[in-house]
Amino acid sequence: MNPGTPFFDVVRRQRAHRSFRDEPLDDALVEQVLEAATYAPSAENSQPWQFVVVRDAALRARIGDLTRRAWEAGGRDFERGRLPDRLLADVDRGATGGVAAAPVLVVVCGDSSFCLPAVLAASVFPAVQNLLLAAGALGLGSALTTLTMGFDAELREMLQLPDHIQPFAVVPLGWPARELRPPRREPVDTKMHRDRFGRGW
Ligand SMILES: Cc1cc2nc3c(=O)[nH]c(=O)nc-3n(C[C@H](O)[C@H](O)[C@H](O)COP(=O)(O)O)c2cc1C
Repeated sequence: MNPGTPFFDVVRRQRAHRSFRDEPLDDALVEQVLEAATYAPSAENSQPWQFVVVRDAALRARIGDLTRRAWEAGGRDFERGRLPDRLLADVDRGATGGVAAAPVLVVVCGDSSFCLPAVLAASVFPAVQNLLLAAGALGLGSALTTLTMGFDAELREMLQLPDHIQPFAVVPLGWPARELRPPRREPVDTKMHRDRFGRGW
């Protein structure tokens, strides 16, 4: 997508990217995307998000290794039969190196000292969605991934996260290896209810 793509086109093209070109990504673009993330809503406007921007190749490889271990330790077996073959294969490629090959991994965290625990996650994920949309608007690929959280303690140690900083997601950022087709979604009227649940639209 080109910068300046209308908002609804960006939304309708939003996809999880799991393979990236081997091309650098300027800090200016990363900052632009993360600034958009910070315009998200949060409980009491607490803005508890913290973004650890991982560029270091060795560290990215170590995070990638954690992701692969989480996938191979049970994630893959759990998802086999649940995910359609094509998606399973794509997640597999992502978890076994595709995601970690992005030039930037943004580890999205929440600061529990800024926000009540009950609403911490709900105050971080809107920022992730802004991040994904901003990336798409700039023609960048990204994905919301959480597999690595299966090794929360190792990730914390690797990134030297203090106890009050909780990691929630690893979002790769980079130039997409290929253009993805539009996302497949159920028609919205199958998810809408007029006045009472189940009455349809
Ligand atoms: C809570 C959550 C966790 C996810 N975790 C992962 C993940 O660990 N690895 C991955 O490759 N994709 C992950 N995804 C991405 C989904 O697979 C993706 O959004 C979904 O299949 C729709 O695909 P599309 O964006 O290509 O249409 C996650 C998405 C959400 C919302």
